[in-house]
Amino acid sequence: MTDPAPKPGAADAAIAIVGAGSIGSSFAVVHATAGRAVTLFDAASDAMQSAEERMLLTLTDLREHGLLDEDPAAVLARVSFADDLESAVGKAGFIHECVSENPDLKARLTAEIDACARRGVVIGSASSAIPASEYARDVAGRSRCLVTHPGNPPFLLRVIEIVPAAFTDPAATAAAQSILAAAGLETIVVRKELRGFVFNRLQGALLREAYCLVRDGVVDVEEIDALVRDGLGLRWSVIGPFETVDLNTRGGIERHAKLLGPAYEAMGAERGQHDPWTDELVASVTRQRRALLPMPDWEARVRWRDRTLMQVLAARRRAAG
Ligand SMILES: NC(=O)c1ccc[n+]([C@@H]2O[C@H](COP(=O)([O-])OP(=O)(O)OC[C@H]3O[C@@H](n4cnc5c(N)ncnc54)[C@H](O)[C@@H]3O)[C@@H](O)[C@H]2O)c1
Repeated sequence: MTDPAPKPGAADAAIAIVGAGSIGSSFAVVHATAGRAVTLFDAASDAMQSAEERMLLTLTDLREHGLLDEDPAAVLARVSFADDLESAVGKAGFIHECVSENPDLKARLTAEIDACARRGVVIGSASSAIPASEYARDVAGRSRCLVTHPGNPPFLLRVIEIVPAAFTDPAATAAAQSILAAAGLETIVVRKELRGFVFNRLQGALLREAYCLVRDGVVDVEEIDALVRDGLGLRWSVIGPFETVDLNTRGGIERHAKLLGPAYEAMGAERGQHDPWTDELVASVTRQRRALLPMPDWEARVRWRDRTLMQVLAARRRAAG
């Protein structure tokens, strides 16, 4: 008797990954460590061999750092390699497309995957900036297509954006959410599809300014990296940018916007971006922050931030030897 086919989108569904580069092999680690069977396929056969070597190194490192309970070889035994696209995706319950960031390649390959995959199986693209409405527009089964954009590497950055197009079936979004959450990823569903999504829009805002500052001779590359690594980024390793300014200013984020909003507005205008923080917008952001952190808890949260940063700094010192 053959095993019944797994339900597409079920938390224990087998995973297919097309493209075994940096992201594809990292997703394989995410799902295999969560106990799932993974099949990898890459058009370049040597890419699969190097993916296997990389995955073993990653799993060994995770184990050494106490982030993996299982033996690395046992985890790797759940990953297999397919000779062609059809055998990779034909039985999968969820498919990650992780090929290079090229809209024509993604469009062609998504149509090919759609032709081989079982009905109802979701096709998530790791696309960094190209929305599904662009690369999947002409795919027959486009209602099962969406973007599942990870941070690199997803076995460490455990939050992922899910970006459906207007034509994506809400059931596909829900299936992607449950399957990725079951693999230990925090899922953020982006409510409006836009180029670059949210992760790379945030990253892009900083990177665009960094390029301008280097271009204008204000600081050099290493100085920018030091300011982010030891300043902004250190803080962002425990709290996000809204919580940062909320905790930096006595009186919270509303007072921050009053004191510093005009300066940020002028900085934006210098770069040709005029998006003032209106009273209504600040009120909405303040409302959301106060729901997350009532003002009476502010002082304790500042102390928590400082103590958590102390732990991060201590770990960084240990890592530096
Ligand atoms: N590297 C990052 O930091 C990062 C982060 C998030 C998302 N992404 C996105 O993830 C995707 C993959 O990026 P990456 O960094 O892993 O790229 P990569 O170059 O490391 O890997 C891409 C792989 O796709 C394979 N490939 C190309 N055409 C193929 C085909 N027709 N069939 C099967 N395999 C094929 C290549 O041989 C290669 O091994 C891109 O869309 C990228 O924008 C990258």
